[in-house]
Amino acid sequence: MTRSYANVQTALPGPKAKQWLDRRHDIVPDGVSYGIPTFIEKAEGAILEDIDGNRFIDFAGAIGTINVGHRHPTVVRALHDQIDRYIHTGFNVMMYDPYIELAEKIAALAPGSFDKKVMFLNSGAEAVENAVKIARKYTNRQAVVSFSGGFHGRTLMTMSLTGKVRPYKYEYGPFAPEVYHAAYPYSYRRPASMSDAAYSQFLLDELERFFITEVAPENVAAVVMEPVQGESGFIIPDKAFVQGVYDLCKKHGILLIADEIQTGFGRTGKYFAMEHFDVEPDLITISKSMAAGVPISGVIGRKELMDDANSGELGGTYCGSPLGCSAGLAVLKVMEEEQINKRAAVIGDKVMGKFREMYDRYEVVGDIRGLGAMCAMEFVTDKESKTPAKQLTGQILKEAQKRGVIALNAGVYDNVIRLLMPLVITDEQLDEGLDILDESIAAVVAKAEAVK
Ligand SMILES: Cc1ncc(COP(=O)(O)O)c(C=O)c1O
Repeated sequence: MTRSYANVQTALPGPKAKQWLDRRHDIVPDGVSYGIPTFIEKAEGAILEDIDGNRFIDFAGAIGTINVGHRHPTVVRALHDQIDRYIHTGFNVMMYDPYIELAEKIAALAPGSFDKKVMFLNSGAEAVENAVKIARKYTNRQAVVSFSGGFHGRTLMTMSLTGKVRPYKYEYGPFAPEVYHAAYPYSYRRPASMSDAAYSQFLLDELERFFITEVAPENVAAVVMEPVQGESGFIIPDKAFVQGVYDLCKKHGILLIADEIQTGFGRTGKYFAMEHFDVEPDLITISKSMAAGVPISGVIGRKELMDDANSGELGGTYCGSPLGCSAGLAVLKVMEEEQINKRAAVIGDKVMGKFREMYDRYEVVGDIRGLGAMCAMEFVTDKESKTPAKQLTGQILKEAQKRGVIALNAGVYDNVIRLLMPLVITDEQLDEGLDILDESIAAVVAKAEAVK
């Protein structure tokens, strides 16, 4: 197949990358992982070029951080302008207007027909930490409920909230107390005898029982929930389940924290994935694509909750840095001007169309799922047994890298390929990337057949 965008001329790592990789292994701990053994030279839109001149179509988007593309000119200009004026003063020392403007704009976009306030932080984990602090302060309750399979970060509280043991929690206990995990719907692996509706109702009934057997609801400050689970392999819950959780929260005076760190800013075709479920969370955490790669995160919440903390109880040295806020404002401009949400829906349709073809062709593609451009494929040994095929998934990702596509794995069983491409990707780049993914599956399946 002729390629216009992907072009990998060396083995991976190439000669220059190999030198840096050796140095990296000498100085950076292995606990800090990497997806592809090479180093970036230049990125633009949905294309990455490494230091050996290899070109890749980016289906990873820095783990969902680059929805408006690498180095979007509007973002680059905003950052240059910001650097020319000031880099950092500390919002807790001398304030700056991009923070206020970004907070106002995000509050206006976020779901919830109530007054809101917004604060900014540095990372996703820090946003979740702060949302929990705010919820505890307001409710005067200590317990927090999250979901099995969920991912919320690598700090003590967020690791505790995370519902997957390896690699996130294994041998890192003890965990933060008063954290409880409830079951999250996983439609592909639900009992065959249950419909999706019956399964959701079953899990909601289980959640009510959970409030009898695990923790008293009047002690629960918040339920933390990803509207679509990201690291777990893009697990999309039934609308009735999300609404049921929300109703249970309301019934017991529990706050609902929507962790939109991976789902937000256009990925699902909306600014916030919770909009698909017609739920108005009390608190929302955001990060990743909100600033096109500049580290920043935020908590959006009902005004009365956000106002409960006293001066100095929230914040931090770099929280909501001017660079992050300026990039954030530029991202919102791009999203509006280029109708990124609409584009996500178009990309999602195209991806799912191609996924359906692959599902029909390959026995190892067990499930395909997507909400907007948040699309994933789950690999199994065969459709009948649904046995997770972790090794095969890794081989497909490696094969795709060799052919010039970078994608990420995910999943409770590490057997899912998830796509988080920049949403400014062109149709031609998208088609080429999907064809490469298809070829990579074919190559790995053929190899596996040959050794049988
Ligand atoms: C849903 C969700 N919450 C929290 C986090 C943690 O964000 P960070 O890695 O910026 O701390 C992530 C990161 O992948 C995420 O996907």
